[in-house]
Amino acid sequence: MCGRPISVDDEAVHSDEPAWIPVCDLSRLKAETIVRVAGRDMLVIWNEGDVVACDRACPHEQADLGLGQVTAGRLQCPRHAASFDLRDGAITAGWPSPPLRLYPVKVTGEQIWVEEPERRSGR
Ligand code: FES
Repeated sequence: MCGRPISVDDEAVHSDEPAWIPVCDLSRLKAETIVRVAGRDMLVIWNEGDVVACDRACPHEQADLGLGQVTAGRLQCPRHAASFDLRDGAITAGWPSPPLRLYPVKVTGEQIWVEEPERRSGR
């Protein structure tokens, strides 16, 4: 047996603090409506004055929602006719699919941040 003993003071044990990923400026999101989060399968969306973050893959059949359309508070999938409520991720009634996963967002000045999903899984 060898190796370093496990200590409750290890930094990893205390890593349940949210980690925030910088995405883009608010002005860019307002201009483009949907922006992909670099290095993550996530999107940020400008929705009626609010910033929403969600999975990029549609929970129905994994279409790229980055190619979708935002209308009246809903994100429409480019593959089928289903759409998602951007307040809670709920899919159009009658579709056999889980809701779209949403993520916490914060805006500091002009900078948009999304919470790193891995940090949330254990909470
Ligand atoms: S793949 Fe998105 S609604 Fe079917």
